[in-house]
Amino acid sequence: MNVFRPPPPPDPARDKFALARKELSAALIERDEEIDLALTALLANEHVLLVGPPGCGKSLLLDSLLSWTGGSKFSILLTKFTTPEEVFGPVSLAGLKEDRYVRVTAGRLPEADFAFVDEVWKASSAVLNTLLKILNERTYDAGDGVARRVPLRLCVAASNEWPSPDTGKELSALLDRFVLRATVSPIRSQAGRQRLLWTRDHAPKLTTAVTPAEVDQARRRAQSLPWSAEAKEALEVILKELAKEGVRPGDRRQFKTVGVVQAFAYLCGADEVQPEHLEVARHTLWDDPQEQPQAAARVIAKIANPVGMRVTQLLLEVEEVLAAAEVRNLADAARAAAKLAEVDRQLAGLTGNGRVAAGRAYVKDQLRQLKLASIEAV
Ligand SMILES: Nc1ncnc2c1ncn2[C@@H]1O[C@H](COP(=O)(O)OP(=O)(O)O)[C@@H](O)[C@H]1O
Ligand SMILES: [Mg+2]
Repeated sequence: MNVFRPPPPPDPARDKFALARKELSAALIERDEEIDLALTALLANEHVLLVGPPGCGKSLLLDSLLSWTGGSKFSILLTKFTTPEEVFGPVSLAGLKEDRYVRVTAGRLPEADFAFVDEVWKASSAVLNTLLKILNERTYDAGDGVARRVPLRLCVAASNEWPSPDTGKELSALLDRFVLRATVSPIRSQAGRQRLLWTRDHAPKLTTAVTPAEVDQARRRAQSLPWSAEAKEALEVILKELAKEGVRPGDRRQFKTVGVVQAFAYLCGADEVQPEHLEVARHTLWDDPQEQPQAAARVIAKIANPVGMRVTQLLLEVEEVLAAAEVRNLADAARAAAKLAEVDRQLAGLTGNGRVAAGRAYVKDQLRQLKLASIEAV
């Protein structure tokens, strides 16, 4: 049956997000998931944390994102010596003369629409408590006893490591403020490494900018995206399965995941949330960074079956095959080629995701190179 669907209403803000997603992804190597995560956070009105070894493109990605957003910005690299003055502003001298202790917040975090906090775990407790309040309640008290709303729309944060399990309560609270969190790995593929080495400039060329008002508009649209019955059911089953594995994200985190998945569906251009879009929930539905993220990914892959996650998995297999194959050994090369062809067949069976086409192009190219290399060896 051919169901007539009216064309979706024009949505220029969504188009801008789609273009930025494409342009970021074209410049950054193997960072599609992290880009999606950051754009989803922006759309979902949540904060995002990237953890990975130095030099894996975290700052490049997060700085690029903030160069795309208009509004006022605040960036800081925390050390254990960073003072509250540096983050929230100096104490007003004029105020002190009148016996009042208030901070001048101009240009600091309390007045930022968008913030980037690097080395976030280094925050001293003097900074941490106020930071928590700004992230969580989005209010700030400059010293006069009045908690005012801050304009903060997104805080992105980065670190080289996860806080250790025996970390204090305060750092766990801070970790929990980031609803979206991911581990960033160094570049995995051979082709990616070549691009890293032989491209002199990796900075994305962004042809648009987005205003805070456009972000708000996109957010409203994202929030009104309906959930399909299948996606609702899939989320409920995922939570039950995770609980069986001992992964029980708190109620607030579960509730916020709904908005995050909606935002991701909106970013993907969907007009309804599908089980597919639960892919992004693997970055939200866990508490302990040590083992739970893998459990979350496994359960979501099993129940919601997102194409994006299967593409990632298949491409990881490709890299393993390529790394293990000795192309000058003909039998080895033939085995690798057969495995790659099999992956391509599996990719061909997947639909509905831009990553499938990109993945297939990549596998085909590797297959071609593999054949060339083994012909040369003869
Ligand atoms: N995945 C990547 N894509 C493109 N460039 C990268 C990537 N990873 C690292 N680089 C290069 O390395 C530089 C350092 O990355 P940076 O963002 O400062 O790392 P981090 O903040 O994770 O320590 C970047 O400016 C870029 O030139
Ligand atoms: Mg950095």
